[in-house]
Amino acid sequence: MPDYKIRGTAPLRGSVLVQGAKNSVLPMLAACLLCSEKVQLSGVPQLSDVSNSLRIIEKLGCRVRRGVHTLEVDTQAVCYSTLTAEDCRKMRSSVLFLGPLLGRTGRAELYCPGGCVLGPRPIDLHIEALCKMGAEIEVTDERISAVCPDGLQGSEITLRYPSVGATENILMAACLAKGRTVLYNSAVEPEIGELIALLRAMGAFIEVGGGRVCIEGSERLHGCHRTVGADRIVAFTLMAAALVTDGEITLCNCPVQALQAPLRVLGDIGADISLCGEGLRIRRGTKIYPVNVSSAPYPGFPTDAGALLLTILSLASGRSRYEETVFSDRFAIAEQLRRLGADIEVKNNCAVINGVPQLCGGTVRATDLRAGAALIVAALGAQGESTVCGGEHILRGYEDIVGVFRSLGAEITEIN
Ligand code: EPZ
Repeated sequence: MPDYKIRGTAPLRGSVLVQGAKNSVLPMLAACLLCSEKVQLSGVPQLSDVSNSLRIIEKLGCRVRRGVHTLEVDTQAVCYSTLTAEDCRKMRSSVLFLGPLLGRTGRAELYCPGGCVLGPRPIDLHIEALCKMGAEIEVTDERISAVCPDGLQGSEITLRYPSVGATENILMAACLAKGRTVLYNSAVEPEIGELIALLRAMGAFIEVGGGRVCIEGSERLHGCHRTVGADRIVAFTLMAAALVTDGEITLCNCPVQALQAPLRVLGDIGADISLCGEGLRIRRGTKIYPVNVSSAPYPGFPTDAGALLLTILSLASGRSRYEETVFSDRFAIAEQLRRLGADIEVKNNCAVINGVPQLCGGTVRATDLRAGAALIVAALGAQGESTVCGGEHILRGYEDIVGVFRSLGAEITEIN
């Protein structure tokens, strides 16, 4: 697995194309199981999480044809409903196969999902909703065994919390259920919108509005083609790198609409952001102003951008505060940033960041995907040489991070 060697402070300059979104493509791949025709996807990023999902799909008996950024998934021959423990533990989104497998085959055998360690990540909301739709599910410490002998039934479901994954599982299960499902307090992240667009292109009847999502179950869905939208967190990563290196970059296909809250925060920080013909241009203003920010479900500030924001604020001209409200343990990054000279104190779910004039090179370890990206960004802005270990986390969500940053003038190499 790679580590990264980085010599920091080269200002990043140039234009860059933002990759397709991991958190869009993963539920889309699970949704392919809902029909028995071919689904074609473009704009698919090359990520280890995508490869893992495709391995799962193939092991279920389906065929996959893969181009550089394209995929054709043919699930006609799906003949198994069991995922292996190893495949489930590799990523959280393995749980997204639960709803589609129940809808398509009437049963699903999974192991409890792995993924980034961000505090407890229960799946009670997924299970309760699917049980309400007629599934019989047994969950032990290790396994999830689900059957629906009479098929899934449409139902009225109110989520206690707008969980992204639970919303996705319910949407997919409801497409093949008998009758109408009405979902209240669902997540409204842009990636949910992308999943709904794919399901509609497959022939599903889904209405969104008035604080609810209505899904009219169908007997069968059909094949289609969709393009995966640009990744808002990767876009934020690139913007963070431009700011900490005092560079100027243009994001050619920036998902501006999906980034309203982060762009407001970057505006408050003093970043100079403009929309130009090619896309969104960003550079540092006269200085980085301190800010107070809390993460929240969309349309709030995304928890996945928190570690990157801490990195930017480490170089602010004063004291900032960042509160994490979505996950209970997402501050392992603070200890790593301190190794690069940042002044961050964490108390419960709050980080207080006292800006320093300069970060300095060091050896740090990625503890999860977004923390890994934040450490690369921090190292790009730090004086001297840094080594970022734990690259396997980064490969899950960032395609060719070395090539992308090098194309903008960064001194970064992959080492084993
Ligand atoms: C998705 O995770 C994303 N992953 C995460 O991105 C992202 O951080 C998160 O949504 C929030 O935006 C994918 O899309 C693959 P949740 P998910 O269910 O679906 C609690 C990244 O770096 N909860 O909305 O797991 C849960 O404990 C990753 O790309 C329950 O209590 O997030 C958490 O506190 C990391 N019961 C909160 O809800 C449940 O049944 C949000 O979780 C489900 C969730």
